[in-house]
Amino acid sequence: MTGRIHFAENLDVLGALPSSSVDLVYIDPPFNTGKVQQRTQLKTVRSAEGDRVGFQGQRYESIVIGTKRFSDVFDDYLAFLEPRLIEAHRVLAPHGCLYFHVDYREVHYCKVLLDGIFGRASFLNEIIWAYDYGGRPKNRWPPKHDNILLYAKDPSDYVFNVDEIERIPYMAPGLVGPGKAARGKLPTDTWWHTIVPTNGSEKTGYPTQKPLGILRRMIQASTRPGALVLDFFAGSGTTGAAALECGRRFILVDDNPEALAVMARRFNGVEGIEWVGYDPAPHQAVEKQRGLFSAPAAQEG
Ligand SMILES: C[S@@+](CC[C@H](N)C(=O)[O-])C[C@H]1O[C@@H](n2cnc3c(N)ncnc32)[C@H](O)[C@@H]1O
Repeated sequence: MTGRIHFAENLDVLGALPSSSVDLVYIDPPFNTGKVQQRTQLKTVRSAEGDRVGFQGQRYESIVIGTKRFSDVFDDYLAFLEPRLIEAHRVLAPHGCLYFHVDYREVHYCKVLLDGIFGRASFLNEIIWAYDYGGRPKNRWPPKHDNILLYAKDPSDYVFNVDEIERIPYMAPGLVGPGKAARGKLPTDTWWHTIVPTNGSEKTGYPTQKPLGILRRMIQASTRPGALVLDFFAGSGTTGAAALECGRRFILVDDNPEALAVMARRFNGVEGIEWVGYDPAPHQAVEKQRGLFSAPAAQEG
């Protein structure tokens, strides 16, 4: 099998995967997938004009004293994530790692949740993916990064192929010798990488698509050739495309038909892909085989 793509609710697929069967998990969950709740708090007071009748015919009026919107949305988000992260930990192989991609506003809460599931000692890095795109508010520092939390299932024994990582140019090559300058340097936990170029061949049209370059870097560093990579919030299938480029196998899951349609086009013509719960043929018949992979985006650092 090259890859397997499920059109399904991810918790169902996770529950059916054997324990310790996956070498790497990357996920980029959407914020606020739990139901948006607006719980209105009411106080009931006795009132002759009240619209409710209670004990002994007394009339009561309900007064709105507030709404608890944001905390409920947030509680739902963590409650949504928790069972899926517990499953991610279970299906990871003993030497496996999780890369958890999240927005700067939620990362702190998710870190606490993940520490509880993996253990604090299993936390290896907070990767800052910095980009330079979009508007710049004038009333604070323009937020131009995402956070990626890296956890090892076993912090004393995990895959990290330091020699496989693509090196990047020195910022000031004149300050290092010519040999070092030619070899480039190892990236740190701060990754400068463009977003998916808006008119490049990599673009699939899926709104939350992440760049292949950052996925390639994770997969090269944290898996060996032939490894199995899982992304159960797959979207446009970037993780699968990067896994293919790196000679790894993949399992992708998404419950949105638009994501599956994009993946059907993206993986058109790739041998050995198993589709579960979805027929990609109608999307592939109309699509000429496109260039699946593109050159890595320019990097700074
Ligand atoms: C932020 S997007 C991922 C984008 C992806 N990293 C890429 O590069 O295209 C999150 C995806 O999770 C999917 N999703 C949300 N809840 C899900 C669930 N319970 N089961 C399966 N997929 C889900 C959404 O449909 C969406 O495509």
